[in-house]
Amino acid sequence: MTSTSTLKLQAIPIDKEIENIIRSSKDIAVGVGANDKIQFGPDPEGLKILPESSKKRLLDAGVDISEGYPWRPNKSDVPVFVDEAAAIRDDDYEYIERAKNADPEKKALLGAAKEVIHLTKHIGTELVGLQLSDLSDKQKDELALLVAERVVVFFRDQKLSPVKQLELGGYWGRVEQHPQTTQVNGLPGVTVIWQDYRQRNLSVGMTFKNHNLGNWDAVKNVSRGNQVWHTDLVHEKRPAGLTHLHLDAIPESGGDTLWSSGYAAYDKLSEEFKRFLDGKQAVFISANGYLDRKNPFGGPRKIERIHPLVRTHPATGWKSLFVNRTMTTRILGLSSVESDLILNYLFDVYEKNADIQVRFKWTPSQPGLGTSAIWDNRISQHRSTWDHEGKDARHGTRVTSLAELPEFDPNSKSQREALGLSLDEKDFF
Ligand SMILES: [Fe+2]
Repeated sequence: MTSTSTLKLQAIPIDKEIENIIRSSKDIAVGVGANDKIQFGPDPEGLKILPESSKKRLLDAGVDISEGYPWRPNKSDVPVFVDEAAAIRDDDYEYIERAKNADPEKKALLGAAKEVIHLTKHIGTELVGLQLSDLSDKQKDELALLVAERVVVFFRDQKLSPVKQLELGGYWGRVEQHPQTTQVNGLPGVTVIWQDYRQRNLSVGMTFKNHNLGNWDAVKNVSRGNQVWHTDLVHEKRPAGLTHLHLDAIPESGGDTLWSSGYAAYDKLSEEFKRFLDGKQAVFISANGYLDRKNPFGGPRKIERIHPLVRTHPATGWKSLFVNRTMTTRILGLSSVESDLILNYLFDVYEKNADIQVRFKWTPSQPGLGTSAIWDNRISQHRSTWDHEGKDARHGTRVTSLAELPEFDPNSKSQREALGLSLDEKDFF
């Protein structure tokens, strides 16, 4: 009798049982809060609050929203265990760095623009008079290089379908398809960026007073949205390269997004400190949590990945500081006290130097058209603002092209070094 019971227990491993329970229960889901209202598949409730301009863009593109919007991956496809989640896109595949094929002068792209506006000295350029949907391959290569140099590039007054946005992302790399978050129906890889919907369905409870707390200790005070400085998808084996966010519903005022340059953050450091950081590696975690197969009752665990702390951009060859407050947890080889101290300083360099940042107001100059931002996650951090407090609609779609395995080239230069700009340290001791 005893041996039969033992055999039965061995026949159904505990992790399989837990997986079955989670997949078959409508009340339990991994990676969400107990009070979250998770709708798998298309959501009829979301459709009720979808802004008119967004609805028109989706319908014009032939997206089927008849049963609801947005769409969330089916529960049977959402990973339960952290090893399953980490195994997604763990395979080897060829990545083509399109920026490397570009004409260094970018004549086809810049020559076709009515205006090229450098919004700040170190980061952010707006191209006027171009439609992203009409770019030739040559122009797309040149745009990839412009983004690699200027970190983020903006296009207002765009008529851009989510289908075309996905196609553009596929040109620049392998498009990330998130296993959990909301996407445009029928278009996996086109992620929905819609804080109002998150507020309604997830137990986010964001208010004017509480939504920025993560900037002090993002692990202890969990981020309630994208209002904390971060870099997208750093837990991937090949983290995000170009990310394209297109907003089709924009508040009259507010809802700006900020970016900060990783090239410039690196160049803010003393030459001595740069030498100390060069070649170091750090641990990066995922935003979503999953269960540990060996300790399924231990609570959610994040995917962990090791990447260089300073990485070299494959197209520009410039070094960039690759850290962010919400997802870089420790520097390998240092004590936890040393690591915390140094990481917090590096986060501050990125977040507090206004001269290496750009703040963008999304508003198009013509109603009915959307605005796009395309940035390189390898060399930046970003955050949004929520000053409109959900009173004005803000909705968009995001497509992320994953890039190369991050590398640090010890012979590479910093941006200022490569451009021959001053690295004077006259006030340093
Ligand atoms: Fe983001």
